[in-house]
Amino acid sequence: MPILSPWRSDFPALAALAADSQTYLDSAATSQKPQAMLDALLGYYRAGAANVHRAQHLPGERATRAFEEARGKIARWLNAASHDEIIFTRGATEALNLLAYGLEEHFHAGDEIVISALEHHANLLPWQQLAQRRDLALIVLPVTTSGQVDLVAAKHLIGPRTRLLAVSQLSNVLGTWQPLSELLALANTHGAITVVDGAQGVVHGRHDMQQLGCDFYVCSSHKLYGPDGVGVLYGRAATLQRVLPWQFGGEMLLQTDYYTAKFRPAPLGFEAGTPAVSAVIALGATLDYLASLDGAAVLAHEAALHAELLAGLGARPGVRVLGAPQTALASFVVEDVHSADLAHLLTEQGIAVRAGHHCAMPLLRGLGLPGAIRVSLGLYNDSGDLQRFFAALDHALEILG
Ligand SMILES: Cc1ncc(COP(=O)(O)O)c(C=O)c1O
Repeated sequence: MPILSPWRSDFPALAALAADSQTYLDSAATSQKPQAMLDALLGYYRAGAANVHRAQHLPGERATRAFEEARGKIARWLNAASHDEIIFTRGATEALNLLAYGLEEHFHAGDEIVISALEHHANLLPWQQLAQRRDLALIVLPVTTSGQVDLVAAKHLIGPRTRLLAVSQLSNVLGTWQPLSELLALANTHGAITVVDGAQGVVHGRHDMQQLGCDFYVCSSHKLYGPDGVGVLYGRAATLQRVLPWQFGGEMLLQTDYYTAKFRPAPLGFEAGTPAVSAVIALGATLDYLASLDGAAVLAHEAALHAELLAGLGARPGVRVLGAPQTALASFVVEDVHSADLAHLLTEQGIAVRAGHHCAMPLLRGLGLPGAIRVSLGLYNDSGDLQRFFAALDHALEILG
């Protein structure tokens, strides 16, 4: 029985892409958007744009209220203990840079920062650069062949010198959930600050910050069916107090003269300048839409489609899937075929997948691969998308073989 998505028609871009003969299987890079989010985005501008937290007039009040309501919706989505633990950034990348700069003064020469071998560049480079600035050691946890952080190694590598642990929740290359509770427990034993890169994980299922127990969690709206230009930094209140502002400007201060300033506490103290007002409001509407769906049905749909993807890849001789993907995506290579050539032929047939190093160059290099093809699923994908992909793959392999 082909798997259909009951939510496909909520996403107008799917029909537009189909009209362009495009099959979209790149949701891990960015997602398509529900009508509810498009309505909110346009509705905000149609009703009258205004800046937030400063204007006394009606449009300003309205924008501020909607903006802060969206903060509340995100706090509820993540089950943060307070709205004040939600900071808006430009994306997950900016949230991680905020932390690497804002926490800098807590690090001293010889301290250790621990990451894993499968991190996205966004959760590697800010720490790598901080390590260089402060003369710290960057420790890289190895990954097992199935694609999870090796916990035996982690027990040896996370220790009393560990000041910070930063790991992904769900790998954007391998589609594997990471053993977060074990890793966070190890880091907590040594009093290290914990950072979870939830850019991929946040899209699949609900994640409870109070249960997870990390200090910081970052994600991007655009992968979660929301608009681009906005990201979220969740920070546990007690740890957030240890972060210094890293960008300075309007609305993040309590008072200033020409020579000194006093800054606001979180969240506004970390939101210098005009934020992405429309995008934040539209993200709030996206969460309303997602909250209206049957979450268990969405997960079951994703799991069934993922199983179909893995079965199809597994049935093709010469195709090797990287690691043991658990959800939403699979990256693969084909014996004796360069993935760039394959990607080219897939693109020519209207299949939108991602090819290359997936912003995880050291991981791919460690696997001895210049690149791989990644197929990733959104809640709107269906068996028809996979059938078109497999037909295009077979055709491409015939040409290349
Ligand atoms: C695991 C992971 N972390 C971080 C990011 C960066 O997200 P953004 O580019 O939205 O800042 C991505 C985006 O692909 C990702 O997959």
